[in-house]
Amino acid sequence: MEPQSAEGPRHVAVIMDGNGRWAERQGLERTEGHRAGVESVRQVVRSANELGVGWLTLYAFSSENWNRPKHEVELLMSLPEEFFEEELPEVIERNVRILSIGRRDRLPPSVRASLENAEEKTAHNTGMRLVFALSYGARGEIVDAVKRLVRDGRVDADDIDEKTFAAYLDQPEMPDVDLLIRTGGEQRLSNFLLWQVAYAELVTLDCMWPDFRREHLEAAMGAFGDRERRFGLTGAQVRSGGGS
Ligand code: IPE
Ligand code: IPE
Ligand code: MG
Repeated sequence: MEPQSAEGPRHVAVIMDGNGRWAERQGLERTEGHRAGVESVRQVVRSANELGVGWLTLYAFSSENWNRPKHEVELLMSLPEEFFEEELPEVIERNVRILSIGRRDRLPPSVRASLENAEEKTAHNTGMRLVFALSYGARGEIVDAVKRLVRDGRVDADDIDEKTFAAYLDQPEMPDVDLLIRTGGEQRLSNFLLWQVAYAELVTLDCMWPDFRREHLEAAMGAFGDRERRFGLTGAQVRSGGGS
C-alpha cells in the first residue's frame, strides 16, 4: 500500500512557476529565482511525503522552455544534478521512489545520467513516487504514446480504450491527478499532463515558487478537501454514495 490519508489527494501535481518574477522583483537575475526554487522543491517533497501524498509530480522544465535564453537553460539544466546529489540520501531514507516523464533524449548526457542514477537507486522504494517532468510536454507525451502503441503492433484498433492507451504514456502506473497546484498566479496548464488532469481539482496560488512552503501545500490540500468531486454525476448522487 502507498501511504495515503483517507480523503487526501493521491496524486498531487505542481506547476512550479514564478521563479523569474520572484528574482526580477528584487532586482536579481532570473537565474537566482531558479536557484532559490530548489529549496522549495526540497520542502514540497518532504512535506508531501509527511502528509501522505502517494504521487507527487513536479513540472521542472517544459519542452517549450528549451526556447529560453541559452544561459537560463544552462542554469536550469544544472539544477537536477545538484538536487539529486544533495537530496538522494534523504530520499532513499524516506523510501521515496524517483521517476521521470519527458523527452530524456534531449537532456544533456550528465543530466540524463544523474536522473537515471536517481531512478536506479530508488527503484525498490515503495513509498511516495516523486516524478520529475523534465523536457516535458503533454502533447509530446501523447504523440509518443501513439507511436509506441502503433510500433507495438499488438493492439487492434477496436480494442483500444482509455486504459489500454494510458498504458503507453511515459509512466504507465501514474494515476490521474487529483490536485493540480500552480504557483505564480497564472491560470493555465502550459502543456502539463493534459491526459492525466481530466478530473483534477485546480488550485492556483499567487505565491511565487521560491516562496512556496509547507503551509501553501497544506492550504491547497485543505481547499481540495472542501471540494465536491462529481465526475459527471449530480451532487445528490455523489452524496448518496455513487452512480445510477
Ligand atoms: C518557473 O519559473 C520555472 C520554469 C519555467 C523552468 P519561471 O522561470 O517561468 O518564472 P516566471 O514565470 O518567468 O516568473
Ligand atoms: C510552465 O511554466 C513550465 C514549468 C513550470 C516548468 P512557464 O513559465 O514555462 O509557462 P508559461 O510560458 O507562462 O505558460
Ligand atoms: Mg513562468
